[in-house]
Amino acid sequence: MQTAEIRRRFLAHFENAGHTVVPSAPLLFDDPNLLFVNAGMVPFKPYFLGQETPPWDTATSVQKCVRTQDIEEVGKTTRHGTFFQMNGNFSFGDYFKAGAITHAWSLITSSVDDGGLGFDPDTIWVTVLHSDDEARSLWKEIAGLPDERIQSRGLLDNYWHMGVAGPGGPASEIYVDRGPEFGPDGGPVVDEDRFLEIWNLVFMQEEITNVRAKDQFDVLGDLPNKNIDTGMGLERVAYLLQGKGNLYEIDEVFPVIEKASEISGRTYGKDHADDVRFRVVADHVRSGLMLMGDGVTPGNEARGYVLRRLLRRAVRSMRLLGYDDPALPELLPVSLDRMKASYPELEADFPRISQIAYAEEDAFRQTLGKGTQIFESAAIAVKDSGGTTLPGEQAFALHDTYGFPIDLTLEMASEQGLAVDEEGFRSLMAEQRSRAKADAKSKKGAHADTTVYRAALDANGPTDWLAYTDLTTESRVIALIAGGDSVPAIPAGSIGEVVLDRTPFYAESGGQNADAGVLTWDGGRAEVLDVQRPVRGLVVHQVRVLDGELTLDQQLEAAVDPEWRLGARQAHSGTHVVHAALREVLGPTALQSGSYNRPGYLRLDFGWNSALSPDQLHQVEDVSNRALRADLPVSAQIMSLPEAREWGALALFGETYGEDVRVVEIGGPWSRELCGGTHVERSSQIGTLVITSDGSVGAGNRRIEALTGIEGFDYLARERDVVRQLTDILKTQPDEVPARVRDLVERLKSAEKTAERMKAAQLLGAAGDVAATAKDVNGVAYVGHHAAGAGGGDVRTLALDIRGRLRDRPAVVVVIGDAGDKPAAVVALNDAAQERGLSANQLIGVVGDKIGGRGGGKADVAQGGGTDVSAIPAALAAVEAALSA
Ligand code: ALA
Repeated sequence: MQTAEIRRRFLAHFENAGHTVVPSAPLLFDDPNLLFVNAGMVPFKPYFLGQETPPWDTATSVQKCVRTQDIEEVGKTTRHGTFFQMNGNFSFGDYFKAGAITHAWSLITSSVDDGGLGFDPDTIWVTVLHSDDEARSLWKEIAGLPDERIQSRGLLDNYWHMGVAGPGGPASEIYVDRGPEFGPDGGPVVDEDRFLEIWNLVFMQEEITNVRAKDQFDVLGDLPNKNIDTGMGLERVAYLLQGKGNLYEIDEVFPVIEKASEISGRTYGKDHADDVRFRVVADHVRSGLMLMGDGVTPGNEARGYVLRRLLRRAVRSMRLLGYDDPALPELLPVSLDRMKASYPELEADFPRISQIAYAEEDAFRQTLGKGTQIFESAAIAVKDSGGTTLPGEQAFALHDTYGFPIDLTLEMASEQGLAVDEEGFRSLMAEQRSRAKADAKSKKGAHADTTVYRAALDANGPTDWLAYTDLTTESRVIALIAGGDSVPAIPAGSIGEVVLDRTPFYAESGGQNADAGVLTWDGGRAEVLDVQRPVRGLVVHQVRVLDGELTLDQQLEAAVDPEWRLGARQAHSGTHVVHAALREVLGPTALQSGSYNRPGYLRLDFGWNSALSPDQLHQVEDVSNRALRADLPVSAQIMSLPEAREWGALALFGETYGEDVRVVEIGGPWSRELCGGTHVERSSQIGTLVITSDGSVGAGNRRIEALTGIEGFDYLARERDVVRQLTDILKTQPDEVPARVRDLVERLKSAEKTAERMKAAQLLGAAGDVAATAKDVNGVAYVGHHAAGAGGGDVRTLALDIRGRLRDRPAVVVVIGDAGDKPAAVVALNDAAQERGLSANQLIGVVGDKIGGRGGGKADVAQGGGTDVSAIPAALAAVEAALSA
C-alpha cells in the first residue's frame, strides 16, 4: 500500500468518526523550547493545556515532524529518520481511553477491502503503564487481546511528555510482530526490532514541569480535561505494509536511493557501509527538502545549522560513494517528485528551494576544497616529522573551521597511510558540546519559566490590546513582576515588569521592535523599556520607574511615544515595500527569510545567492520610491488562512491554522503579507526609502538594510554634505568629483612609481662608492653594507652590482636593506671566493642568526629576511668575524 494511501485511509477513518481534518502545521512552530515540530500534538498544545478553547472537540492530522537528536544513527539502524510524518487523532475532553483504543483497533485490523490497514490481529501486541489497569482491561474487552500480549512497563517507556514542561500522560503503545526471523519471541519488552512499535496512544491528563529525565519530572496538576493524543508513524506502517525492511525503502524515499545508485555506479544492498551512505542520502535529502519548503535556510545557528548539516552530510555521503559532481541537482528533484503528492506547495516553491540547496552544495564543495589543502599540509607535516598520526587538534580544527566531518578526515588520512588521534578529537568535541549546552541553557532560562505570566493570564484574562487603534489608554496595573516573581510594588529607580488590563503598546513581534513610551500616574512616572508577549494573550511591559512607586491596582495613563510609533510604522511598511520591490526586480524567488525594523531602520534577509549589482540595487530603490510616490493605500484585513493563501498572501513562518490571520496589503495585490505589525495608512507616509547596504548572510541568503522617513533624509543630507566638502576641496562641481578623484589617484600612483625609480637609481648609483669601501679580510675583499630604505629586489641588484666591480680578487659582498622595518639581506660571492671554500649559503646563516631570521640559496648568492633591524650592524660584523677566523 502506497504511503499516500495509508495517509488517506487514516484521515478518512477518523473523519468518518466525526473528527475534523486539520492540515499539517509548518515544521517551524512558535515555541521557544522547540527547534522543530517533533510530534503531531505540538500545534494543539494550547488546547491541551486549557490556554485556548479548541475550535473542535476531536481532530485528526498527518503532521510533518523533524527529530534530529539521532542524526548520527540515520541509516545504521532501520528505525531512525530525521523527517517523518505522524498520523494522529486528538480528543479535547471528548472520548478518552475506551474511544482511543476502539478507533485504533478498528483501523489497524479492519480488512483492506473495508478501508482498514489489514493487520492480522494475532500479530498485535500492546504495552500499558504498569499502574494502568483500566487500559489493560479495555484492551481485553475491546480488542479481545489475551493477557500475555498486554505487557506492563514503567514511566520510562509508557509515560509520554514533550521533554519540556507541558502536557503529559500514561501511554499505551501498539506493536506488530514481524516474525521470528527478526528476533526472539517474548513481546516488545524483549525485542523492539521484531516487535515494531507503530502507534502510541497517549492519555493526556496531567500538566508536568521541571523535567529532569524521561521518567523524572514533577506533576503540576490535572489538565482541565482528559484528552487523547496519538501518534502513528506513517513511515513505519508503510514499510510493514510494503513488505520492506526499513523506512528508507518505502515508495516516498527509495527512488532517491535508486538515483544515487544510478549516478554513483554503486549498488544498494551489497555492502553495509555503502548502504548506510545511501540511506543517509535519501533521508537527508528529503528532510532538507521539507525544511527548506517551510522556510528554513542553511546557516550556522539553530535551525539553519541543522539544515546545513543535513545537506552537507548528504553531499559528503555521495562523495564517499564515489560521486564527486554536484549531487543535489540530481537528487532533490527525485525527492520532490515523491513528496509533492502529499505536499503540492513544494512544487510551486521548488525554484526557490532548489536555488538555496544548490548554493549550499556549491559552498560546501568550496569548503571541501580549502579543507583538503589544509589537511594535506597537515599530513605532510606529520610525515616530515616522522609521525604516523594526525593530532586530535588538527582533526578538530578541520571539523570546526572547515566543517570536515571526522569520518572524512579518517578516510583521507587512511589514503595517506596515516592514523588520526580520534580520542583527542572526541574529547575536544565533548568540550565544545558542553560549552554549547551551557550556552543553550543560559539562553533558554530567559523565557522558559512562564509560570508567573500564566498565573497573571489565568487571574485576569488576556490583555485588552489596542495597539492598532490607540496611542494612549487609561489603564490599571493588574500584575507586577520582578526577578521572575510577583511583587506588590516597584520602587523608584528600579526595573520591573508590568501587566496592564489594557495597553496601546506594540509588543515586539513579526520583526517589529517594541514601542517606547511612558506610564504616568498620580505621583509617579515610568519609562517603558521593552514590551513582550511571553505567553499568548498577555502583554508585559518592562519599565524603569523614574518617580514615585508603582503599585498593584494603580490607575495610570499608558502613552506610546507618537514620534517613535510613526517611525516604527514607516519602517515596517517600508520593509513590505522593499520585499515587494525585490520580487519585482529579481523575480518571485527572492523571498524574505527574516526581518527586523525599528523607527527609521529596517533590514530584510532574503533567499538569493549572488550579490546584487549596483544597477539591481538602484532598481530596487527606484521601484520602492515610486511605490511611495504613488501614494498606495495600506490596509489590514482579518481572514482565514486558506482565504489568505488563495489571495496569494506571503505567509512565511509558523502561523497557526484554525485561527484567523491578518493580511496587510500595500496597493492591493502589489504587496500582500501575513503580518501583525503597525503600518502607515498610505505609502507616501513612509517619506523616503534609502538602501544603505547589501551583503551576504550565509550561503543563499542576503541582507538589505535601509532607512526610512526622516532617518533616510538625514542619511542623504549627510552624503550631500560630504560631496559639498569634496567640491570645496577640489574646487569643482559635484558631477565632476568622481573624475577628479580618479585623476588624482592616478597621478598619485604615477608619482609614487617615479619616486621609487629615482630611489633605486640613487641606490645603484652608490654602488661604485660602496665597492670602494671593500676591506681586506684574510685576503678576501669584504663589503658589508647597510642600505638604508632599500627593499628585497633593490638589495639583490645592489649586491650583484658591487660584486661585479670586484673582479680581480676573491670578494664577499653582504647588503642588508631595512624597507618597511624588515631586514632583507643578500650575500654574493665571486668565483674566486668560492674557490677558497667560502659559501654564500653558509654566510647567510651567520646573518640570519643576528637579524632574527633565516635564508638560503647557493654557494654564489643567498638571500634571507629577518625581524630585527637594529641588529644589522652586528650581522655585518659577524660575517667579517667569520671571514677572519
Ligand atoms: N505525542 C505522542 C508521540 O509523539 C503521540 O509519540
